[in-house]
Amino acid sequence: MHLDEHLIRSHLHTLDFSELVDCHVFPSIDSTNRYLKELPNSQAPIVLCCAETQTQGRGRLQRVWYSPATENIYCSIRWNFPKNTTALSALSLVVSLAVLQSLQTLNIASGISIKWPNDLIWQDKKLCGILIETTQSDPQHLNIVVGIGLNVNSDPNAHITDQAPNKPWCSLYQITQQHLDRNWLIAHILMTTHRYLNIFKKEEFTPFLELWNKSDYLFGKQVQIDQTQEVIRGIAQGITAQGELVVLDEDQKQRRITCGEASIFCHPLL
Ligand code: BTN
Repeated sequence: MHLDEHLIRSHLHTLDFSELVDCHVFPSIDSTNRYLKELPNSQAPIVLCCAETQTQGRGRLQRVWYSPATENIYCSIRWNFPKNTTALSALSLVVSLAVLQSLQTLNIASGISIKWPNDLIWQDKKLCGILIETTQSDPQHLNIVVGIGLNVNSDPNAHITDQAPNKPWCSLYQITQQHLDRNWLIAHILMTTHRYLNIFKKEEFTPFLELWNKSDYLFGKQVQIDQTQEVIRGIAQGITAQGELVVLDEDQKQRRITCGEASIFCHPLL
């Protein structure tokens, strides 16, 4: 089934979602995030952009997001946020929880956890990545563009090409052995993310801590955090109420990490 604006809208209607959504669906685009970052302000409070493929899909840390045509979800959703919202860095964690929650309500989340800050992981392989970018919309507000790349119907074994990710990845098809309706998934993810962001706007990250602790992929593992200036190794001890990763480093010092790439460090730490 192809991506279809009318189907997305009708699923949103079935889900009783009544917010106004401006919807842009493309057969191909460079990057849905880039598109929404440059799109002028809209009357609608929510703008959705999705595409069958991306020619320059963007990942975190300047990486490329592999976007094979018609198989997966490449979508970006834009919200207008008051500029004074603190803890914006925790927003990406909230979005990953919303995607996980959508999969849970559709009964397809068994065994999926979240690797800080926002990768969905199944059997040590990446299922979904999230890239959040912001632009100023007026002096008091920011446009927040939430980009979601969710591997839905791809079979990674059929993608042995130079462009495919060189790190292990997986898809919902591998988990469920079924091809899933991307229009329905997009509608559900949009609705859940909207609900979570409204909670986050009022109460910040604290209401999500318990949910996070249930799905924390890194907890108790030996990790390595690669930052531009430093590499930190230690044991992951969960996150703070602001969404920072807590690591007990090799000098037994507790470090609070706000950015960087986390990976599992396999060698014993002595
Ligand atoms: C990551 O590196 O884990 C984040 C990947 C985010 C990919 C999505 S696909 C839709 C949106 N448009 C982009 O160019 N990137 C994001």
